[in-house]
Amino acid sequence: MKLTQAIENLQNKGFLDIHLEDNIDYVEEINKLRKEKNAVILAHYYQRPEIQDIADFVGDSLALAQKAATTDADMIVFAGVHFMAETAKILNPSKKVILPDLKAGCSLADSCPPNDFEAFIKQHPNHVVVSYVNTSAEIKALTDIVCTSSNAEKIINSIPNNQPIIFAPDRNLGAYLMKITGREMLLWDGACLVHEAFSIDKILDLYLQNPDAEIIAHPESQEHILKVAKYIGSTAGLLNYVKTSSAQKFIVATEAGILHKMQKEAPNKTFIAAPANEANCNCSECAYMKLNTLKKLYLCMKYELPDVEIEESLQKKAVKSINRMLEISK
Ligand code: 13P
Ligand code: SF4
Repeated sequence: MKLTQAIENLQNKGFLDIHLEDNIDYVEEINKLRKEKNAVILAHYYQRPEIQDIADFVGDSLALAQKAATTDADMIVFAGVHFMAETAKILNPSKKVILPDLKAGCSLADSCPPNDFEAFIKQHPNHVVVSYVNTSAEIKALTDIVCTSSNAEKIINSIPNNQPIIFAPDRNLGAYLMKITGREMLLWDGACLVHEAFSIDKILDLYLQNPDAEIIAHPESQEHILKVAKYIGSTAGLLNYVKTSSAQKFIVATEAGILHKMQKEAPNKTFIAAPANEANCNCSECAYMKLNTLKKLYLCMKYELPDVEIEESLQKKAVKSINRMLEISK
């Protein structure tokens, strides 16, 4: 079902008009519902701190997909964005998968419309199609192997050298992979608005003021940002790096939500969110990720809505490329 159509359905059911008294203890209620409904709450590192703190598991997109594939809970509550909940549903079609806000989309996933992508693939036959997990189910159905930023290098290296590759949708991750694997790939021209907003000038100014800091970056960032980074990795990779590095201070070029977990796991170290080009904006925060709140988490668990639905034929096509990724990532 298309996202807009699903939102309309919820509006028609009156779900989006629900108002609550403000004296509810959401943490207590969520804990009760989790037990009653045998639910598991999965949260991405970019979620608000209070959501990360109440989740059963917080992880990067690969770890979250792996958890979703193996959970024995009856209901998966996905505190992340739509493509992540959709991936969980594709992997586990018999389970109920709900998310706090159906409008939590992704600029990167939106930058790859299925009809255009299908035409692009047709123009380049004999290519293996590798797509980043930040895509719709329709794109995954057109893909041979899905990847995340944690396993992308391994996935590209698993493809025979003489095999041409299409990589979609992130042009920055694609260019970075070409550099580290030495493989030529045909890149789709998409990007994440958060990772494209970082200002190299402001990052370097910050570094001049904090010469003891290390700059670390997510590979969705632009090349000039990656060039000055001491370490480049997925959100899980960045988290692991700050725990093991001897440095005490870090300028972190990815969505600022990860700083919560970093501060928790390395309480004596200092973390500074990399600044964006625009003055006075929260550009290093993903507006989609931040749509999820404790109140919406409570509501979605209480009413088991909004839930993710996927047509069976689409699920069957899309699961193949995700399973290939999980197989190679073992
Ligand atoms: P990872 O969780 O794979 O690092 O990806 C981050 C991301 O862009 C999620 O939107
Ligand atoms: Fe999508 Fe970027 Fe937000 Fe991740 S941070 S969900 S890639 S828009």
